[in-house]
Amino acid sequence: MAVPFFDIHYNLGPAQRAAILRRWQGVLEHGKFILGPEVAELEQNLAAFLDVRHVIGCSNGSDALVLALRAMDVRPGDEVIVPSFTFFATAGAVARVGATPVFADIDPRTFCLSVADAARRATRRTAAVIPVHLFGHPAPIEPLREALARAAGRDVAVIEDAAQAIGTASPEGPIGGLGRVSAWSCFPTKNLGALGDAGFVSTPDAAVAARVRALREHGGARTYFHDEVGYNFRMDALQAAALLERLPHLLEWNAARVVSARHYRDLIREHGLEDVVTAPQIVPGHVFHQYVVRVRQRDALRASLSAAGIGTAVYYPLPLHLQPCFAPLGGRPGDLPEAERASQEVLALPIHPGVTPQQRQEVVAGIAAHFRSHSAVARGRS
Ligand SMILES: Cc1ncc(COP(=O)(O)O)c(C=O)c1O
Repeated sequence: MAVPFFDIHYNLGPAQRAAILRRWQGVLEHGKFILGPEVAELEQNLAAFLDVRHVIGCSNGSDALVLALRAMDVRPGDEVIVPSFTFFATAGAVARVGATPVFADIDPRTFCLSVADAARRATRRTAAVIPVHLFGHPAPIEPLREALARAAGRDVAVIEDAAQAIGTASPEGPIGGLGRVSAWSCFPTKNLGALGDAGFVSTPDAAVAARVRALREHGGARTYFHDEVGYNFRMDALQAAALLERLPHLLEWNAARVVSARHYRDLIREHGLEDVVTAPQIVPGHVFHQYVVRVRQRDALRASLSAAGIGTAVYYPLPLHLQPCFAPLGGRPGDLPEAERASQEVLALPIHPGVTPQQRQEVVAGIAAHFRSHSAVARGRS
């Protein structure tokens, strides 16, 4: 049985399609295609869902990060501490506002920013830090804020990159209102996915919300009056309309991901694979945007699974401090050992909410078969 890594149609069954088409019919009738009433309604519903005061819909998660950085007054010449092991946009957004990303290592158990390593990199130019709730695992926020305040001798703005983590909670509370401002993505494969690009910013702070709203539309609170230079980062009504129909299902979809994560963990144990496959931690509040295991010789396993029709993915094969576009910053192999080791070892298994128990069994049986045949080959050689 083939097991696709992701199935874009799992949550687009007849009832969802009919509900989205009804909403889209409404948009066609009122004709307010950019922002419009659906975006305002979505902002309210998301604020209630996340338990955070203000939500501002925008074009995508990458632009949401730019808005968050600008709202924190990050400017050219500033430094922003980011994990090296994350999606490119986390650091790309820093460069887009003219500031310098300063790469820090990760905690190998969680894949999230290492608080100690981030604090070591604080300087008098540090303007902000961006912890990423990577793969849906909650990153520590308050310990990071305290460590950076101690290291820098002043408060450093914490911007949560929550793109992969809608619905995640940490022991400190639901994410998205823990830092001063947070950026979210509704890219179609995210836990809450639009049918195209979309994203949003959340913040507990009314002044930050007003600034983000203005920056989203060319930097003016009133049309044709501009207090600063902003952007066209608006959300389309059609995307908001689709998201309004998806949001009520999110808790159920996130719960299905956690069921899959527990099942994978049990299957890895049952097949006696714990020595060769390190399963991710299952902590309360993790929403498993991805289920990422670690293995040595990852590419060989990936090839075996692919030959058996099992889809996997590698998030991320090259840490950001070694990306060619950041070469002028002087990053070298060996600088951030945990980020570099993670990019060699990580393998994401299928975990979208439509994955069935049989498919999970198939995936882990495929992993077990690979290691059986490889140890047989190794025994044959010795
Ligand atoms: C951690 C992280 N940050 C930012 C983004 C950017 O979001 P978008 O693709 O909506 O621009 C993503 C999306 O993949 C992400 O995973």
